[in-house]
Amino acid sequence: MEKGMKPGLSVEECVRRLKRYHYAFKRLHQIFNARITREPIYELKMGFSLHAHLCAEHVTALRKRVGEMREPPLGLDVVPDESLEILFDEILATPQTTELLCGVYEIAMPALKSGLQRHLEDTNLLADYPSVRICRFALLELDDMLSYGTQAISALVDESDRQRAANWVKLLQDCLAAAGSLDGVDDPVPGSLDRQYSANPYHFDGVPKRDKRFPDPYNMGVNAEVFLYDPQFPPEPKTLMMFYKRLREIDVPEMMASIIAETPGKPWDYYRDMTRQLWDEARHAMMGEVGFVSLGIEWPKRVMVNFTWSLALNTQLKPIERHAVLYFIEQGLMPKTGKRFEWEVGVASRNALAAMFQD
Ligand SMILES: [Fe+2]
Repeated sequence: MEKGMKPGLSVEECVRRLKRYHYAFKRLHQIFNARITREPIYELKMGFSLHAHLCAEHVTALRKRVGEMREPPLGLDVVPDESLEILFDEILATPQTTELLCGVYEIAMPALKSGLQRHLEDTNLLADYPSVRICRFALLELDDMLSYGTQAISALVDESDRQRAANWVKLLQDCLAAAGSLDGVDDPVPGSLDRQYSANPYHFDGVPKRDKRFPDPYNMGVNAEVFLYDPQFPPEPKTLMMFYKRLREIDVPEMMASIIAETPGKPWDYYRDMTRQLWDEARHAMMGEVGFVSLGIEWPKRVMVNFTWSLALNTQLKPIERHAVLYFIEQGLMPKTGKRFEWEVGVASRNALAAMFQD
C-alpha cells in the first residue's frame, strides 16, 4: 500500500525518461554492431554480436511501451540531448578497442543502469507497471553485459591504456554531467564539450580483422563441402567437417554487420530482425568452436578459417547486393540435401552434440 500510494512519475516524465533509455540502447546497438567486423579478437567479435542483439531487443520493448503512452508521431528518432549524442558519437568513433571497452562498460552502461534503477525507485509500481517490467528485464541483461565487460577490461586494459585515455574518459564524464545524467534527472553541469574522435564525420570500416589464432585468413585449408558429400567417407570424420563449417560462419556476422551499419532509414523492426540473425550466425560459429573443444581438438592456428567472403562482399558490393547474396545462400541451404543432410550425418556419427547442433 505504501508503494502503491506514492504519487510517482507523470506520464510525461515517464515517457521523457523512457526515451532516453531507448536512445542509449539504440546507440549502444549501433556501436556494438559497428565494431564486429573490424574487431580482431574473436571473443569480442562474438560478445559484441550478443550485446548488439540484446540492446536491439530492449530498444524494441521500449519503443512499444512509449507507443502505449503516446499518440504518434512518437518522436523516437529525435536525439533527446545533444550532450548524450556527443557521448555516444565519441565511443562509436574511437579507434582504440581499449577505449571502446571503457567507454561502453565503465561509462555508458553504468549510467544507463543507474537511470533504470532510479526509474524503479521514482515511479508508481502500480500505475507504471508495464515500464517497471521492461526496466527490470533490461537491468537483468545489462548486468550480464557489465559482467562480461568487466572481465574483458581486466584482461585487455592496463594502467598505461587508462593514462592515455584519461582526457577522453573525462570528456565522456563531462557529457553525462552536462546531460544531467543519462536520464536527465540531475541538474545539468554546463561545460564546453569539445569533440575529439567524432569531430570528423563517422565512417564504417567494413574490412574484417581476425586475431593471431587465424593465421591465414585468405585461404581455406580444405573444401568442406566436397568432403562432406563424398559417400566413400564415414560419418564420424564428417562431423569434424561440419564443426569446421560452423566455425567458418564467423564471416556472416562480419558481413551482416556491414549491411546493418550501411543501410540507414529502415523501420526499426528491420534492424531488430537483422541483428537477431547476426547473433544467430555468431552462435553458429561458436557451435563449431564448442564442437572442436568437445573433441579435444585445438583449433586455433591449426584450422584455417578464411574471411575472403566477408572481405569481398563488404568491399565490393552495395549493402542491398550483399543482402541478396545472403538471401540466395540461405534459401539454397534449406533443401533435403542441405541442412537436413548435415543433421542426418550428425545422427549417423553418433556424436550427440553434432546431431543436436545440426538439428
Ligand atoms: Fe548460419
